[in-house]
Amino acid sequence: MKLIVCEDYNELSKKAAELVAKQVNEKHDCILGLATGSTPVGMYEELAQMNKRGEVDFEEVKSFNLDEYYPIDDDNPQSYHYFMKENLFSKINIKISNTHLLNGRTSDTIKECREYDEKIAQSGGIDLQILGIGQNGHIGFNEPDDSLFANTHLTGLTESTINANARFFDSIDEVPKQALTMGVGSILKARKIILLASGASKQEAVLKLLDNAVSTDNPASLLKVHPDVVLICDKEAYTGNRLGVDIGGTQIKFGVLNSKNEFVAKESIKTECKNEQELLNLIAEKCEKLKNEFNVTFVGVGAPGIIKNGKISAVNLPLCKTDIKAYLEEKLNVSVKVSNDANCAALGEAKLGAGKDVKNLVMITLGTGIGGGIIADGKIYEGGGSAGEIGHMCIDPFGTECACGKKGCWEKYASASALLKLAESEAKKAPESLLAKIFDEKGVSGESFFEAEKQKCPVAKGTFDIYLTYLAAGINGLKNIFDPDMIVLSGGLANAGELLLNPLKEKLDSDLQIEISVLKNDAGICGAALLK
Ligand code: PGA
Repeated sequence: MKLIVCEDYNELSKKAAELVAKQVNEKHDCILGLATGSTPVGMYEELAQMNKRGEVDFEEVKSFNLDEYYPIDDDNPQSYHYFMKENLFSKINIKISNTHLLNGRTSDTIKECREYDEKIAQSGGIDLQILGIGQNGHIGFNEPDDSLFANTHLTGLTESTINANARFFDSIDEVPKQALTMGVGSILKARKIILLASGASKQEAVLKLLDNAVSTDNPASLLKVHPDVVLICDKEAYTGNRLGVDIGGTQIKFGVLNSKNEFVAKESIKTECKNEQELLNLIAEKCEKLKNEFNVTFVGVGAPGIIKNGKISAVNLPLCKTDIKAYLEEKLNVSVKVSNDANCAALGEAKLGAGKDVKNLVMITLGTGIGGGIIADGKIYEGGGSAGEIGHMCIDPFGTECACGKKGCWEKYASASALLKLAESEAKKAPESLLAKIFDEKGVSGESFFEAEKQKCPVAKGTFDIYLTYLAAGINGLKNIFDPDMIVLSGGLANAGELLLNPLKEKLDSDLQIEISVLKNDAGICGAALLK
């Protein structure tokens, strides 16, 4: 099944009309299988315009419609006879005697259906069949069931279809409960098929069609066995795959999420370019490759520092001159969003990680500094653009000087680096301690520290207690301000897991839910992809 994703309904209508016109121009006396419903209306309008401009001629074309309500009179404005006259036949030069629809007033439905199939066969079979898709995956009035009819037949409508079609009637009670429809076998006999899907209400049907196996529960899925089907969707109906890019000082990570939010690809490259243009080219090239390979319709970018007007000001990246959003949009021809990497990580964690289904979350990244991301009501809270810089929240105005130029920033006391700095100085004061010995042997690292802590070294324990007091003070402050449903800890130090979490909980306000990041290094790419 070939997939064409259009920007909007207009483009979808034009694209579909072009394909129909191409068919008619290639074979002037071709047989078209036509559909009703709101989706093909724009395509019919386009065809009418093209016919008027002399770009397509229906003089010799024959048509067979897919279905008709039963019972219904031809002149009932809700009948498909009426629909076709209004939306197409009266606007093009097709001969009415060449158009065929099932008779919604027949007293012998079995004969009507048999003769309809025979007429299609006698005229040489359908060259091009147009189809819409129901929210429940129906095609024509072939509703999901344990088994499906091959030939044209009388069928009952499901509740979902009656509800969906009620919009065309004055009341739901007026929607006919039965219809005559071509069967899936009749549809599959068409030489070519165009399936149209427009609008968010078709998202799930499209998703199931593309992702799930062939099943009578999803009649549209049977089209997968046909060799020449084009599915034309607009962007509302097809969410497509989303690419998340996490730009870091040492590496750039790329991850493609499908519409079920599962990874279909993950790659990374080194951030080893010296200048802005080189780095942008590198990113764009990789995005382009993944876009083409995985049908990417959106790119989200997470980057450190402050993002303003698509420009990234981060000390460790040469990306401050170019509007990366505009640059990538031009190169890739898909929509792009850029946000701070800690915000992206928080969004990823809130949607797919520890905070799945949680609406308000603060993520704290304990690394060289402290990064933060705030999710309020399921969305990133950016404030004026740089909200979430929780590492620079002042906890002691007379305290240690920070790289930002101010004094007493939280990250000077509660980051992973702060813990190691404190531990190193405490170990120096107590050279006989186990902590000092492990540091001497294995070097100063989080792992060495926790080894001493696990072995109950009193110096390590004392150090950790001071550290946790600082960490808890900040977290309790964040709780007072945001009252989140959950706090998530990430970054190198969070790898300590329970060793960090259990003693920390004792110092926190008791009703605070605090978890370790589940997505770990993937949180950034997930969140970037989810910026859409
Ligand atoms: P719609 O119907 O075009 O009105 O959405 C399509 C269908 O149910 O087949």
